Amino acid sequence: DLNFRESWATRIGFILAASGSAVGLGNIWRFPYMTGEHGGAAFLVIYLVAIILIGYPVMINEVILGRKTNKNPVGAFKALAPNTPWWLVGALGVFTGFVILSYYSVVAGWSLAYIYKVVLSATAAEIDHAEVFVGHITSVWEPIIWQAIFMILTVSIIAAGVVKGIQKWVTILMPAILVLLVILIIRAVTLPGAGEGLAYYLQPNFGDVGPRTFLGAISQAFFTLSLGMGAIITYGSYLREKDEIPGNSASVVGLDTGIAIMAGLAIFPAVFALGFSPDGGPGLVFITLPAVFAEMPLGVLFGLLFFILLSIAALTSAISLLEVVTAWLIDEKGWTRGSAAVTMGIIIFVVGLPTTLGYSVLSDVTFPGLGMDMLDTYDWFANSIFLPLGGLLTAIFVGYIWGARNAVQEGNKNAGLISLGNWWVLLIRYVVPALILVIMIMGIYDTFFGG
Ligand code: PHE
Ligand code: NA
Repeated sequence: DLNFRESWATRIGFILAASGSAVGLGNIWRFPYMTGEHGGAAFLVIYLVAIILIGYPVMINEVILGRKTNKNPVGAFKALAPNTPWWLVGALGVFTGFVILSYYSVVAGWSLAYIYKVVLSATAAEIDHAEVFVGHITSVWEPIIWQAIFMILTVSIIAAGVVKGIQKWVTILMPAILVLLVILIIRAVTLPGAGEGLAYYLQPNFGDVGPRTFLGAISQAFFTLSLGMGAIITYGSYLREKDEIPGNSASVVGLDTGIAIMAGLAIFPAVFALGFSPDGGPGLVFITLPAVFAEMPLGVLFGLLFFILLSIAALTSAISLLEVVTAWLIDEKGWTRGSAAVTMGIIIFVVGLPTTLGYSVLSDVTFPGLGMDMLDTYDWFANSIFLPLGGLLTAIFVGYIWGARNAVQEGNKNAGLISLGNWWVLLIRYVVPALILVIMIMGIYDTFFGG
């Protein structure tokens, strides 16, 4: 039956899948390097405030839209506001998912390559991890092949369907990541010289905070929680009527934030102890962590495990990105799941190529006015512009067009410990839109004209 719509097989199916979407490169790769580029603890504090004031209410908002309509993001807006242009917000989300996955698969490809490269070659001899990283990504074909392998994995899972494909994986993954991070933290904080990194990460100095710090923090909040582009609307659409929303959303936000904080605890002490600089950008995790593994007893084993887990975490996020595009083609355009996943997978792979090539043949190209390489440019537009904009418009839509009261009613069906009330209405109607608007305007201005 082509019209049959799956739903999560068990009660915690949604929590697992939504955490699978949330926990990914955003926590372990992007969060540490954003924190490192924006001054450490001060960024951490602003990011945490953004999670609470923006991330959590927006997460609830999107789950409600999904469960209410049982639709992909475009269909969700069409269902609640027929014959209006609001569906364009859903379309922006589908487009954003497309852009994010195009470079997400590039970085995930680096992680796959590391399972193979650093970890396996570390058994042989001492190696210079910075060299290996740079050598790998500056070659033309190698990273493209790993990017392709990662996309093939993503497409295969999505083609298999919601329950069998998505839910199976995340059940095993989450506990494993937590355990491994704890081991890494213990190793990192006991390295000689770890204290400096801990101080950098945990003692805020607000002296250098500017508009770009705030923009960086909301971009990270949206990206890490998979918000602002319809992934959570789509996953919410597979919820059943009897599933609870505010508490489930809190669990997902809490888990994702906890894992990001832990990743920072594993990385910053090691960065400082081993004499690296924390502002190295996207390479941070791929250079520093392997160097930590090289210092540990059984480091090869732990390194192998770590990059396997990072790759799987990336995979469970990537499938949620591809699922948005796929669900849209199935629901709105009548495609079959298989052909939607394969066709989009191929196009997304091609769209991502410039970000890979930005480290080789396109290494001289920077975006006018931004001064960023290709990968950072894709990342900047997707996460600093499209995601907050999507979150802003969705909050306005629910707060003023569909109506916050309707949303509260839907969100409180079967509510347990936490229930929605004025606090949430206040956040979604006023706090979320105002904060996003002010931060975006100031941050974008400062990025282009702030010198
Ligand atoms: N939240 C994912 C991560 O942290 C990335 C992602 C963004 C996934 C947007 C889906 C949608 O890695
Ligand atoms: Na995340």
